Amino acid sequence: MLTVSEAIRERRSIRSFRSDPVPDEVIHQMLEAARLAPSGSNRQPWRFIVVTDATEKARLRKICLDQAFIEEAPVVFVCCADVTAYSQALRKKRSQEFIDYGVTETLSGRFADPAFQALLLAEPDPDLRTFFPAAVANTYIAIEHMVLTAIALGLGTCWVGALGNEGEIDAFFGLPTTMVVVAVLPVGYPTMIPPPRPRISLSEILLRPLPAPSR
Ligand SMILES: Cc1cc2nc3c(=O)[nH]c(=O)nc-3n(C[C@H](O)[C@H](O)[C@H](O)COP(=O)(O)O)c2cc1C
Repeated sequence: MLTVSEAIRERRSIRSFRSDPVPDEVIHQMLEAARLAPSGSNRQPWRFIVVTDATEKARLRKICLDQAFIEEAPVVFVCCADVTAYSQALRKKRSQEFIDYGVTETLSGRFADPAFQALLLAEPDPDLRTFFPAAVANTYIAIEHMVLTAIALGLGTCWVGALGNEGEIDAFFGLPTTMVVVAVLPVGYPTMIPPPRPRISLSEILLRPLPAPSR
């Protein structure tokens, strides 16, 4: 099994899979990696459908701009974000867990202020649709945990992001309006490992030079 930094370096988008099945253990480990991801206020909005059925994979391929590797992969995760995770009832539950698990004592600033916490808890139920961006952002974290776990276990994946046709996936799987498809993730053993793809340089991603090295 690769280390995290090895998995990050070895990861490539894989667009051709062998037909060998993906062991159940790998599927479980990927889901476990998602489950353990961090999320704002520990809301954990990620939800998954594990697709192995040939007809369902063929349909996903068609919906996702006819990308053949989606159908070819032995397993496809449909990764969704659920805004009901942001209801006030669940805010209270998560908040109680923060108390029970001693997290509250580690919080800082306004989050450590009991009056501020009480104010948040007293808010009426929000329009859940306003939480779609947060739910999607948090789900992205969980998905990348899954990707790196797959790589570490010798498998390949390719993110297939929201392509403007999520509504068709929602309808196909009968998802409620509180759920949004974030990505489709085919998984399988790669037919070959391509060389690394180019990246912009460190200086291009730094908005200002690094601080001088400390002595
Ligand atoms: C959110 C997201 C959506 C993507 N959607 C697709 C896709 O629909 N089809 C595809 O072939 N690759 C897709 N990719 C893969 C990117 O093209 C790929 O990550 C990028 O070119 C860098 O290559 P690498 O992943 O091999 O390093 C997606 C990647 C991300 C993160």
